[in-house]
Amino acid sequence: MPPSSLSTHGHLIRISQVFQEQTAGIFSRLGISKTSALGQEYHWAKDFTAESIADQTASIFMRWHIPVHHAWPCNPQKMEGFIERAAQAMLKKFGGLDVQTILVGQLSSGSASGYYKHLASNLRGRVLQLFPEVAARGLDAESQDPGKSTLFCLVGREGLYCGVQSPRAANGFYPGGTKFIAQGDENTISRAGAKIAEALHYLRLHRSAPPEGSHWLELGASPGGMTSELLNRDYRVTAVDRAPLDARLRHERQLLFVQCDVAEFQPPAAARYDALLCDLNGEAADSMQQVIRLAPSLKSGGLVVFTLKMPGIATVHGALTLVDEVCSAASQAGLRVVAQTHLSYNRHEFTVFLEKV
Ligand SMILES: C[S@@+](CC[C@H](N)C(=O)[O-])C[C@H]1O[C@@H](n2cnc3c(N)ncnc32)[C@H](O)[C@@H]1O
Repeated sequence: MPPSSLSTHGHLIRISQVFQEQTAGIFSRLGISKTSALGQEYHWAKDFTAESIADQTASIFMRWHIPVHHAWPCNPQKMEGFIERAAQAMLKKFGGLDVQTILVGQLSSGSASGYYKHLASNLRGRVLQLFPEVAARGLDAESQDPGKSTLFCLVGREGLYCGVQSPRAANGFYPGGTKFIAQGDENTISRAGAKIAEALHYLRLHRSAPPEGSHWLELGASPGGMTSELLNRDYRVTAVDRAPLDARLRHERQLLFVQCDVAEFQPPAAARYDALLCDLNGEAADSMQQVIRLAPSLKSGGLVVFTLKMPGIATVHGALTLVDEVCSAASQAGLRVVAQTHLSYNRHEFTVFLEKV
């Protein structure tokens, strides 16, 4: 919880460009009417607080969000002494507050010039000089406690926006939520690998990931980008798909591949998986029925990571109805929803995390 001494000037909300056409509908469901666009994906919702969300389910569209405790709308490139002035203003506003760390990111991720990336890094360096107790802890994004307060700052062509929020409440460890995951080199089997890498990172906001050696059942594995990520983390994998896996996975000793329709897959009677990953394409409700059918082979407390695809669904109402339907079916079958979100490497889909009760 941010300290009550801070006054809030609305919320900074990130919504993926994937949902650009639905943004107005999303804001309406969230109960937001006054917004200014900042950068490519950020919105300053001036009449919004986390408590005022009209429809909690609609928060699934918010990739990341913080209360705005300090805003300096300006063009940093044209502002003489921007870093020093920004850092001193932050000291005045946030000095003496108990925050675990201070993280600065850029409003337009992937900005071509790199100017704001450097500005963010230099601003953080200067701010940490002014907050020596925070600097002494030496915490970076990865080493944060998800439940403790962090001072998050975003800087870009539209100015500087800061707020105190825990990574869990913000919905991500990094400013803006995105952990950069390298992909596209000769070892990348498919783009989907980044999704499970990000999902396992994100999961730490809510619970620990399965330990090394855990056995995953993977539905919809071909060509094997996710399989390869799981194997790289020293997991064992039973992968199912009607299409073949990439030849590079052929000699993996910790992998058992079963090529068949998932509806025909029967786990061995004694099998007890630690976790289940489902990235089947097709109707999300049908995919969840397969997860539910196989859930008796999952250990109690076992994790399910489910990519909820939305083929042909173009409206906010349609997406939320589907999420509700799929998650209700899971809950009724004894799979508790731990978290549901849109991850940075998701396209027109959500990632839902469940746990067997
Ligand atoms: C999005 S792709 C999976 C990508 C994969 N997770 C990766 O990391 O490369 C979806 C997969 O689901 C598989 N699939 C869809 N319905 C299936 C079914 N009924 N039985 C088996 N495989 C199915 C498709 O063959 C396809 O390979």
